[in-house]
Amino acid sequence: MSLSSRHLLGLYGVPKDDIQLILDTATTFREVLERPIKKVPTLQGKTIVNLFYENSTRTRISFELAQKRLSADTINFTTSTSSTKKGETFKDTVRNIEAMKVDMIVVRHQSAGVPQFLTRITKANIINAGDGLHEHPTQALLDMYSIREKFGELKGLNVCIVGDIAHSRVAMSNIFGLKTMGANVSVCGPSTMIPMGIESLGVKVINNIDKAIAENDVLNVLRIQLERDAGRRIPSTREYHNYFGITSERIEKNNKNIVILHPGPINRGVELSSEVADGPYQIILDQVTNGVAIRMAVLYLLGTMVN
Ligand code: CP
Repeated sequence: MSLSSRHLLGLYGVPKDDIQLILDTATTFREVLERPIKKVPTLQGKTIVNLFYENSTRTRISFELAQKRLSADTINFTTSTSSTKKGETFKDTVRNIEAMKVDMIVVRHQSAGVPQFLTRITKANIINAGDGLHEHPTQALLDMYSIREKFGELKGLNVCIVGDIAHSRVAMSNIFGLKTMGANVSVCGPSTMIPMGIESLGVKVINNIDKAIAENDVLNVLRIQLERDAGRRIPSTREYHNYFGITSERIEKNNKNIVILHPGPINRGVELSSEVADGPYQIILDQVTNGVAIRMAVLYLLGTMVN
């Protein structure tokens, strides 16, 4: 069994069999993470560069850990300590790194389309770790894995993505992946944060958070991305919390079986009350643990494909 592409640029158009293969392979690696020695020789001899042009805690550490668990050689590139600061272009930087014989590049960039661009200028296999407002496929895969772990399957589940949909690459990848796997997907948030025409992707729009909690099995609650202009789309974060924040009271009034996900980082007291962020309905740290297994699966499946 192998994937249909040697790159993972997004989940748009990725076949169901590919997503199923990644989720099933991650189950094997999830078991490796419970062993006393959490390391397998699978990618011994492979060299992987983590090219992060934008801040990250979870994704960067998770990819690095996944690479180490698979015995790959790992290099971390950060802009602040690189020759980018001396004016070197993105293309020159990448071509120089590639000349050192790398097999795979994991890239995070503030501009949408950079992973796609890399497929044209290098021979390495490319993994998108989040590009602008476009996609964040491994985040959606770990979200789907965590939901599947909780419910047994994704088909037929009602999943609502809550919050700043307009600025969210996580929302886009979740919509594409969940729809492919047969889930019923909706979005909920202030109308200023819901892209016009989103219904054409086959998702329902819910304007009321109480209704969203009552009607769904899962809420995937997104961060309000103040660094990306979200602040101009709501009167204040306090107002946002009053209308769309997830609180214990709202959960207990509407649906005590709800499962809450959040990709992180959380704005406590904005998207989630602290009580919910640390409480019994959320699986946020399970998502983080599963993220390592998902990234091991993606690296393994792509790393064993010829470039
Ligand atoms: N979920 C996520 O992408 O988090 P980081 O920005 O910390 O990687």
